[in-house]
Amino acid sequence: MASPGFTILPDSPLTNSFALPARARRLYQVDDVDALPQALRQAGADALLLGGGSNLLFVTEHIDSAVQVLDGRIEMSENDGERIRITASAGVIWHTFVMHCLAAGAYGLENLALIPGTVGAAPIQNIGAYGVEVMDLIEQVQVHDRHSGQTRWWSHAECGFSYRDSAFKADPQRYAVMRVKFALWRGPRLKLDYAGLEAELARASATPSPQSVAEAVIRIRQRKLPDPQRIGNAGSFFKNPIVPQHQADALRAQYPNLPVFPAGQSGFGKLSAAWLIEQCGWKGKRQGDAGVSAEHALVLVNHGAARGSELLALAREIAASVATRFGVAIEPEPRLIGAHW
Ligand code: EPU
Repeated sequence: MASPGFTILPDSPLTNSFALPARARRLYQVDDVDALPQALRQAGADALLLGGGSNLLFVTEHIDSAVQVLDGRIEMSENDGERIRITASAGVIWHTFVMHCLAAGAYGLENLALIPGTVGAAPIQNIGAYGVEVMDLIEQVQVHDRHSGQTRWWSHAECGFSYRDSAFKADPQRYAVMRVKFALWRGPRLKLDYAGLEAELARASATPSPQSVAEAVIRIRQRKLPDPQRIGNAGSFFKNPIVPQHQADALRAQYPNLPVFPAGQSGFGKLSAAWLIEQCGWKGKRQGDAGVSAEHALVLVNHGAARGSELLALAREIAASVATRFGVAIEPEPRLIGAHW
């Protein structure tokens, strides 16, 4: 009998970068992404669909069934004058993919080096860093709709991308990303405008290249963000709040040091959540083993034995204090499993 393309593991731990205890009674590991629809049907409508586990907060520890794509295939496809099209399966590790593209002379993703997670998770939250968002390079996404049972390629416009958001994020249990098709550049198109990136590059003497940009981004991330291998975390826990420009201006008048960035939509500004949280005195604080990173105020950390519920309680206290002091609502970026914000 031909392999079904997936394996079912009984009572399996669920890896997550917060290093929280979580187990599934049945874990479906999918080696061939074309078998994902069948694995999802067999696992049941409530089965949790997991990426790399780097953008989740398990508030529940016991999951009945979970499905994870491990398929790590990368295919180079058409090649016109300026662009190289590369299709990757959902299970490809994101950083491996960025490095693979660089080595293949396909550019544009270098600012996104070292982001944890998988290719399949990247479009869901429209990952971004150092002035680039993954939506800038995505052409199409192959999606299985668990409600209708259909699988098809969604165009860029259908994906509904915006800052750390997409049409998929509205219902992450419904839409299963199978493959992502990227349109990358054959020649370098460096984006160096993010504060600090150019300065970091200037430390290396040669003219910047996509490779040196990736290296600079890796150095900045390693310096600024806690390493999930050493201390459990899910990167930025809060999104930077987007507020009406008049509110941003009023806050800026009162707090001249508050960083305000373009929000990508006219009439709005994006505030630095890290700054707001730090001003409220949270940076480096801990409550038991749940804490705020001493390196970056936007990152919640598990010092060892924190429970998901304790991290969530801390996050709610932080958000409440920012709301009281600045009148700004901040919201979590990772997906909460077993709780609602
Ligand atoms: N800041 C503080 N305190 C801190 C850290 C930062 O006040 O502890 C202020 C500084 O003024 C700094 C500003 O916040 O200039 C911005 O900080 P940073 O450049 O680190 O960026 P960020 O807005 O905090 C976002 C992303 C990160 C991404 C960086 C770099 C979100 C939610 N986070 O953070 O993404 O790596 O920009 O592009 O948009 C992630 O999503 O998990 C993530 C790490």
